[in-house]
Amino acid sequence: MTITTPFSILLVCLGNICRSPLAEGLLRNAAQRKDIDLTISSGGTGGWHVGNPPDPRSQAVAAAHGLDISQQRAHQVSVHDLKQYDLILAMDRNNLRDLKALAQNDAQRQKIHLFLEFAGLEDSDGPDVFDPYWDDSGFAGVYELIARAADRIVDRLTGN
Ligand code: 4NP
Repeated sequence: MTITTPFSILLVCLGNICRSPLAEGLLRNAAQRKDIDLTISSGGTGGWHVGNPPDPRSQAVAAAHGLDISQQRAHQVSVHDLKQYDLILAMDRNNLRDLKALAQNDAQRQKIHLFLEFAGLEDSDGPDVFDPYWDDSGFAGVYELIARAADRIVDRLTGN
C-alpha cells in the first residue's frame, strides 16, 4: 500500500478505554521509530467513558513497557471522524459492524477495516482483538498482540 503522508489513522473499540488507547500509543510509537508521519487517534463506538483517561489496567500494562498513555481521553466516534481520517481500524467485528452502520457513503465505508486483518494477522491471531474489560488477566496478551500488529501496520504503510 502506498500512502501520501501525513496520513491519519483512527483506532476504534467499544469504550475507547482498554484496547484502542493501547493501539493509539503503540502505533504512534511504531511510526516514530520508523520515522513515518502518521496522525494517530482513537475512539469508541460507545459514549459511556467520554472524557475519561484509559482504564488503569491498560495504563499499567503500557507503563510496564515504558509507554505512557495517561494523557489520552476517551472520545466517541462520529460521522465527522469517518470523513476526517484516512484509515479507520476496528478492534473487533462488532466495532466494524457499528462503524459501517454509521458510515454515510462508500467512500467512508471503504476506509473501515478490521485491525488484525489490516495487519495481516487475521489467520494467526484474528479476527478480533479480545475485549479484556471483564477479565483482568487479558491485558498482557492484548498488549502483546496490539504491539505486534502495530509494527506490521507501519511496515505495510511504508511498503515493507
Ligand atoms: P474497550 O473495552 O472497548 O477495549 O475500551 C471496554 C470498555 C468499556 C466497556 C466495554 C468494553 N463497557 O462496557 O463499559
